[in-house]
Amino acid sequence: MKKIAILGAGPSGLAQLRAFEAARLAGIENLPEVVCYEKQNDIGGMWNYTWRTGLDRNGEPVHGSMYRYLWSNGPKECLEFADYSFEEHFGRPIPSYPPREVLKDYIMGRINKQDIRKYIRFECPVRWVTFDDETQMFTVTVMNHKTGEQEVNEFDYVIVATGHFSTPNMPYFEGLEEYSGRVLHAHDFRDALEFKDSEVLLIGSSYSAEDIGTQCYKYGAKSVTISYRTKALGYNWPDGIAEMPLVTHFEGDVAHFIDGTSKRFDAVIMCTGYLFHFPFLPDELRLQTHNCLYPANLYKGVFWQPNPKLVYLGMQDQYFTFNMFDAQAWYVRDEILDRIKIPALAARQEDEKNWLAKYDEVTNVEGSIDYQAAYIRDLTNATDYPEFAVEKQADILKEWQKDKQQDIMCFREKAYRSTLTNTLAPELPVPWLDVLDDSLEYFLELSATHTIEKSKAS
Ligand SMILES: Cc1cc2nc3c(=O)[nH]c(=O)nc-3n(C[C@H](O)[C@H](O)[C@H](O)COP(=O)(O)OP(=O)(O)OC[C@H]3O[C@@H](n4cnc5c(N)ncnc54)[C@H](O)[C@@H]3O)c2cc1C
Ligand SMILES: NC(=O)c1ccc[n+]([C@@H]2O[C@H](COP(=O)([O-])OP(=O)(O)OC[C@H]3O[C@@H](n4cnc5c(N)ncnc54)[C@H](OP(=O)(O)O)[C@@H]3O)[C@@H](O)[C@H]2O)c1
Repeated sequence: MKKIAILGAGPSGLAQLRAFEAARLAGIENLPEVVCYEKQNDIGGMWNYTWRTGLDRNGEPVHGSMYRYLWSNGPKECLEFADYSFEEHFGRPIPSYPPREVLKDYIMGRINKQDIRKYIRFECPVRWVTFDDETQMFTVTVMNHKTGEQEVNEFDYVIVATGHFSTPNMPYFEGLEEYSGRVLHAHDFRDALEFKDSEVLLIGSSYSAEDIGTQCYKYGAKSVTISYRTKALGYNWPDGIAEMPLVTHFEGDVAHFIDGTSKRFDAVIMCTGYLFHFPFLPDELRLQTHNCLYPANLYKGVFWQPNPKLVYLGMQDQYFTFNMFDAQAWYVRDEILDRIKIPALAARQEDEKNWLAKYDEVTNVEGSIDYQAAYIRDLTNATDYPEFAVEKQADILKEWQKDKQQDIMCFREKAYRSTLTNTLAPELPVPWLDVLDDSLEYFLELSATHTIEKSKAS
């Protein structure tokens, strides 16, 4: 019997566990023995909110980069598990942009339906992985914090699902050592109320900058300034949020920008992205890439080219998330079960070359969305993962882009139709800016009241 190690029990690792469970439920025999090692004490990965920053209770780097009041930044209709709809989980339609706790509940729902937790070893960070060319086996060393002992085990396959939005990319700007305010990375941002009445500078111009910027505005920051390196976000910001070119240096609590202007700030939040960080992998097994749609050296975006018994899940930049991880996990499962035969190295590299060439032709966001949809379609075509109309979901993502351009403070009030159930989501009944309570209970109550009122009215 093959032995498989899954590293990480976030959405990607859980997708892999779920894929094997689906095979077991379908009556497939001789399934491999699976063990999932998870550093945290629960499932959910990034969605498992923690108030901690720095080190966790075991002295391990805190994985979580999510913060209080975080809402989905894309429509939920584009991340829906094809085998478990939102409607099935909540028993009724809910708005398109749920807060974090609601999405976590949904992730948990699919897992709790099956007895998958038994495969997960919590508080077991992976320390080191090696591969023996002679035995063709991996050796995985983990620190079991529950027993206080290191464990060493052998596996036929290793599936790395440890995420890539956890280790901060922290740039330096001259004068920061003398800066008198608070300097932090988005990874350590937890509560926007900390910045109420403050003048906040965010460096970076991608999702973290736009979302932490709007959060700080929503919870009462005096001003929010977003400093970009390559391109301004360019949204129709309300008074109180502004964009500036890149910071050159700091003097005291004043930031200077390359256009010669300057401004004083109470705090600086680096929204400068994350590093791919696999301290448990030696050079010959370690993926070295940046945040992009097709990391090099991975066949089908998952199999390590030099040794396809090493698999990486979820290493792409993400328009699609949960359903893309599922598509990958089902494909990987079928390769492990010998239902899909992967070709020899030359053909694998040719396939990768073709995908990278197509990626070179992508020039805009719409093209990027279609590219990732085509990648997912390529995977799902080869497995029995349920159909979910990924191209229709790509169209929704393009609408999402337009909604944000139209009004960055209100796009979360839009509603979309599920491609699984064909149900149109109810609109968020009150402006997103006015919803300061992001709890599961409040969100469900808010959307239920609205649904009842609407049905009474009709
Ligand atoms: C601030 C923020 C907001 C986001 N918002 C959204 C959103 O609104 N919608 C959306 O779809 N996506 C969002 N994402 C993307 C998010 O990363 C994915 O949805 C998803 O969590 C990725 O799943 P994953 O399993 O690949 O990685 P992760 O969720 O990061 O999970 C990785 C798991 O691996 C574990 N791990 C790490 N190292 C080790 C080790 N050495 N040994 C054992 N276990 C280890 C971690 O503890 C963690 O549980 C957001 C990301 C960030 C950072
Ligand atoms: N609510 C939500 O759902 C939410 C909120 C936050 C984040 N997220 C998710 O988190 C993930 C990561 O997003 P992210 O924005 O943190 O990372 P990202 O998309 O990788 O963007 C990194 C940004 O940092 C800038 N940058 C990097 N180094 C810099 C430097 N030295 N000086 C100035 N700028 C620098 C980059 O600028 P260049 O363009 O110049 O390279 C880019 O704008 C995404 O998947 C996103 O969806 C979701």
